[in-house]
Amino acid sequence: MLLTDCRRVLTSRHYINGTEVACFEEEFASYLGVSGCVGTACGTDALYLALLALGVGPGDEVITVSLTAYPTLLAILRTGAVAVLVDVDDTLTMDPDALIEGITSHTKAIVPVHLYGSPCDMQRICDIAEAHGLIVVEDACQAHGAAIEGRRVGTFGHAAAFSFYPTKNLGAIGDGGMVASSDPQILQRLYRLRSMQSENIDGRQITGYNSRLDELQAAILRSRLKELEKRNLARRKAAAAYNALLPDCLKRPFAPAQALSAVHIYAVRSEQRPAFISTLERGRVPAMIHYPKLAHEYGEGNIRCRDLRISIRVREEILSLPMHPNLQQSSIEYICTLLTEELSHEAP
Ligand SMILES: Cc1ncc(COP(=O)(O)O)c(C=O)c1O
Repeated sequence: MLLTDCRRVLTSRHYINGTEVACFEEEFASYLGVSGCVGTACGTDALYLALLALGVGPGDEVITVSLTAYPTLLAILRTGAVAVLVDVDDTLTMDPDALIEGITSHTKAIVPVHLYGSPCDMQRICDIAEAHGLIVVEDACQAHGAAIEGRRVGTFGHAAAFSFYPTKNLGAIGDGGMVASSDPQILQRLYRLRSMQSENIDGRQITGYNSRLDELQAAILRSRLKELEKRNLARRKAAAAYNALLPDCLKRPFAPAQALSAVHIYAVRSEQRPAFISTLERGRVPAMIHYPKLAHEYGEGNIRCRDLRISIRVREEILSLPMHPNLQQSSIEYICTLLTEELSHEAP
């Protein structure tokens, strides 16, 4: 399949700005349920260009979380805006009450992050945004196919950013990204900004740059999009198996009612994380930490941190167990047995 897609592009000799990207933009828009999509070179660019297209720039404040991948923060800082970081709640996504407390007269936009593929409380966040006249750009870089009451994430805000980094639920064989929006003006601006053209946005002359998705990646993503639902379902089944078999003391991912996670990452929490990591290492199970540092600890610049008590605690406790669509039930049983045994060693 992959080779057929690659051959099609190679024989067309059309590597940039061809039909594969245009078709994939249409197909992904239709999959999400938005009126259009604009391919970019990566998810970071998708977020950055979406914010630019919505008029975010110097003098503005953008509220997001620090419990996220660093590119969320980087994209905001690159616009020249101040990043205001608020805490998460039990869902490990933006706490809407903390969001309200972070709003000032300079706030222009909110960037909720659907972390680990788990949807934010978009109903409340969009209500708050509307009440304060704020823009919402969803960071859906980890959440292809996640949904709330049947509506896909990436369709709630004014725009949304997706990443097609190879390890994502919908991954390319290199870098790639996409902005989704149902606002024709935003889409038009994005087509221009990603191809080195300038735009006058709210009286500011904004210079675009070169950030294109290429034909090869788009051809592969078109094929993989057809498999996305099936693969997400396999992830959800694996998550359900972990939920059932893990020792009780490990905190499972909190799934809000009506929210369907894309389970990009399956992350549990424990105060005894170092012991569990050693056990997994001894059992040759690859365990990871997403993320060992909060985003603001990686970067410098116009960052204002609010109370991040829960984010800091989560950073110390979070542990990602293996998660992919081909994860076998026997592997999950092995991992859960290892973790349960660790507890029995600990018992007096
Ligand atoms: C939450 C989040 N935002 C943004 C990005 C940036 O995407 P990319 O790596 O495609 O630039 C990522 C990718 O790791 C991510 O996980």
